Amino acid sequence: KSKVKLLPHQVEREDSAKFVVLTLISIGCITGVLLTSGILYCLRHSSHYQLKEKLSGLSGDLGSDATTAYQELCRQRMATRSSERPEPLHTSRINSVSSQFSDGPMPSPSARSSTSSWSEEPVQSNMDISTGHMILSYMEDHLKNKNRLEKEWEALCAYQAEPNSSLVAQREENVQKNRCLAVLTYDHSRILLKSENSHGNSDYINASPIMDHDPRNPAYIATQGPLPATVADFWQMVWESGCVVIVMLTPLTENGVKQCYHYWPDEGSNLYHIYEVNLVSEHIWCEDFLVRSFYLKNLQTNETRTVTQFHFLSWYDQGVPSSTRSLLDFRRKVNKCYRGRSCPIIVHCSDGAGRSGTYVLIDMVLNKMAKGAKEIDIAATLEHLRDQRPGMVQTKEQFEFALTAVAEEVNAILKALPQ
Ligand SMILES: *[C@@H]1O[C@H](CO)[C@@H](O)[C@H](O)[C@H]1NC(C)=O
Ligand SMILES: *[C@@H]1O[C@H](CO)[C@@H](O)[C@H](O)[C@H]1NC(C)=O
Repeated sequence: KSKVKLLPHQVEREDSAKFVVLTLISIGCITGVLLTSGILYCLRHSSHYQLKEKLSGLSGDLGSDATTAYQELCRQRMATRSSERPEPLHTSRINSVSSQFSDGPMPSPSARSSTSSWSEEPVQSNMDISTGHMILSYMEDHLKNKNRLEKEWEALCAYQAEPNSSLVAQREENVQKNRCLAVLTYDHSRILLKSENSHGNSDYINASPIMDHDPRNPAYIATQGPLPATVADFWQMVWESGCVVIVMLTPLTENGVKQCYHYWPDEGSNLYHIYEVNLVSEHIWCEDFLVRSFYLKNLQTNETRTVTQFHFLSWYDQGVPSSTRSLLDFRRKVNKCYRGRSCPIIVHCSDGAGRSGTYVLIDMVLNKMAKGAKEIDIAATLEHLRDQRPGMVQTKEQFEFALTAVAEEVNAILKALPQ
């Protein structure tokens, strides 16, 4: 604008040169915008094919039963997608890339549509700002100093829980109910089923209550992935503990090795002893996780309950998820669903210790911070978990992942706070 005003007073040659340059730049910009919209349009049309490819690619290296499971999911996803308001996958991906860790404003909850939206949960916390900064710098220091991390992990490996007897788990009638003999429940800290309601008249299940601050009510139940012979026990535990949220952290099969029994119906309903489980819905949120909703009925009393299962698909045994972001978003979705409840969250992977321990550690620490705790000791929290179930967090990489995840979430919370 100012250029145009100045025109008559300037040397004409210089000005026309500038004008040409400006025109060229404008043409460049317009072309850029047109190209971008073209590309976005194409992406929008190919996004669900990409998802399909991605999912079938993912299933390629898993066992055949995982393949059919994923194919089924794809089909269902395709079916739901066509009935949904078309929501381009790539757009929310782009949003989500910039939303969490950039300085930009966080997406407000009202701006998101319903649960069918693909975007991330906003961060929510009552964290104390100075505690947040302190913890962040502590974590960063810890993560940079590999030597210190190594030492801390060694100390944790040497930690011995006491009391630590697992006699009930090793009884003859119970021993085949354990998926992995390295992770047995402690006698002093195990979930007791009501044996009169159990199909085998037994109170044993490989599941441990995990207490946080309240010594009477467990915040979580860490358990192994059900076996074909323990699936009725699993649903009995879901029923008797009042559970409404299940967190599943393992694929059903990994490199042909069974990690967990397919303990829910693929469609319609299945009866497990006196517990009738109805699959109500299945919703794929992203490549990393999906959510299933079950209607659970106790046929002895005719009482019913809705149970939501959050299934994280891409976390393999002894490993860590490919990114902290996907797990943190998964956790936010779990906690949004759980909010306001007081029943324990059932967390399971295959043995119910490595991945489950890592998830519980992250969630417990972040919940403490959200409640305004002034002091966080991650190693001590892990020892507290190991007092209740052996093998919680199995590898140094998993421990490091937990520290990284906590640091990133604290970072995101601090950035979302009004400065
Ligand atoms: C179990 O506890 C006993 C003491 O009660 C201790 O000597 C032992 O080392 C502990 N074992 C493990 C594996 O922690
Ligand atoms: C449960 O429902 C069935 C069928 O509706 C009925 O026959 C049965 O008596 C009910 N049981 C209880 C305990 O209410």
